[in-house]
Amino acid sequence: MVLGFAELYITMIIGTNQRTCGIQDPSQCGLEVPRRRISLWVQIALDVIDRTLQDEDLVSQSVEFGALDDELVLAELEFLGSLSGHPVPLSAGLTAELSRTTARGSWRHGLATPRTLAHLLTTGLFRHDEKVGHGCVVVVDRSPYWSVQLRSVPPDRWFASDNAAGAAPQVLAALLDANTGHALAYGNDPWTIRAQESFRALFDRDVVTQFAYGGTGANVFALGCLLRPAEAVVCSRVAHVTYDETGAAERIIGTKLLEVETVDGKVAPAGLSSVRHLLGSEHHVQPAVLTITQATEMGTLYSIEEIRTLCSLAHEMGLLVHMDGARIANAVAALGGTSAVLRAMTFDAGVDVVTFGGTKCGGVFGEAVIFARPELATRSKYIRKQTTQLHSKMRFISAQYEALLADGLFIDLGRRANEAARLLHESVRDIATLGLGVPPQVNSVFPRLQDPAKSALQDWSFFWDWDVAASQVRWMTAWDTSPTDVDRFVSGIREALL
Ligand SMILES: Cc1ncc(COP(=O)(O)O)c(C=O)c1O
Repeated sequence: MVLGFAELYITMIIGTNQRTCGIQDPSQCGLEVPRRRISLWVQIALDVIDRTLQDEDLVSQSVEFGALDDELVLAELEFLGSLSGHPVPLSAGLTAELSRTTARGSWRHGLATPRTLAHLLTTGLFRHDEKVGHGCVVVVDRSPYWSVQLRSVPPDRWFASDNAAGAAPQVLAALLDANTGHALAYGNDPWTIRAQESFRALFDRDVVTQFAYGGTGANVFALGCLLRPAEAVVCSRVAHVTYDETGAAERIIGTKLLEVETVDGKVAPAGLSSVRHLLGSEHHVQPAVLTITQATEMGTLYSIEEIRTLCSLAHEMGLLVHMDGARIANAVAALGGTSAVLRAMTFDAGVDVVTFGGTKCGGVFGEAVIFARPELATRSKYIRKQTTQLHSKMRFISAQYEALLADGLFIDLGRRANEAARLLHESVRDIATLGLGVPPQVNSVFPRLQDPAKSALQDWSFFWDWDVAASQVRWMTAWDTSPTDVDRFVSGIREALL
């Protein structure tokens, strides 16, 4: 058995679709090993695992390295061989634990059957005689074995979510200002009346504005106002309302969500048309509302023309249109940054009800549901209360909106977040492995990133995985992300990928 370098722990889990990889920090054993080299070992391990998992009958199979260049692997083997005389503890030897997975489960707590990866690395072949169950996905145990240690100073703001940001100073000032004396509850206060008036002025029409606590609740409430029994909501497969709201709409307003084909996070006319055959049949739930998200969960935008087209198709089919505008500020900023753009992409385009997000663009909490016409809102006050969205001290939501609407502050905050995302994209788009395409339309970037760099970066400055199967993560900027934050984050990225 050849020993003499870092230890790989390879573990397998049934039923998850994660695949990450870790390796003990060889410097703890007194070895100076370049990070690039460690990444390569990790890749070798993953490559082996990939190959083994592709195989249906793994008993006594040999697995050859596939994706990796043979020369590279051989060079590594030579390097590893040169270390074999190094006085490192046995525990730091290159060993792997390809563990047994059974329907009963876990290998990680002593059930594992160890295998020596050193052997396969020195022969260039991986032989193993464990039968691995179907449907297994590999997870290579990570902490505390990360070898990538970032020394750059992390950014002050994270790239995790616009929800991770604090509130804009103007919003906080408005909250303090509203904290004077007593005011009637449930919206019968001067702040609410003024904020509703501000929305009428902003949209330049007789809209009805009802404030709600949060984004999920506002969506549920808004949709609840538009639906009757046996009616359904058409949405994109990745819509927050279907993917990220824990079935709230289904449970609270008892509707059905009809997910349709989605391109770049958007509903296309063909997707909407695909439910047409349900209309009029007593055996099918009746599509009654189309909900679209602007900007979408994938960081894309509907053009004004696309919204117009969808609205006229929906109306022609007898559906109303709801817009989830949790990131409406980013969308308006990206499409021109004026209230005329806001009007054009919402009610002028045919949208009937908008959830107008405040939290992600500098608010503390609270969202606004805006009805294009009073007749759409006739039952809204009952439905808001029934869906638990009626805030008693409503002035504290309304005051935030007053501040956000004053002098187009929400657009300015949305623009800042968008610009930070654009700068981030520009600063790293030369890193081919990130697989970045066109510049972001709003405030998120979706690079491909693999371990160990990914986890090291996440430990250093947190951000979320997005599509684990595709090794895709999400970097999201907020209204307060500064160019310095971007610079520091970029330094960390480069360091991790070195
Ligand atoms: C598109 C979209 N809609 C709605 C929401 C509102 O969610 P919450 O209930 O967390 O405020 C979010 C939050 O992430 C979102 O991204």
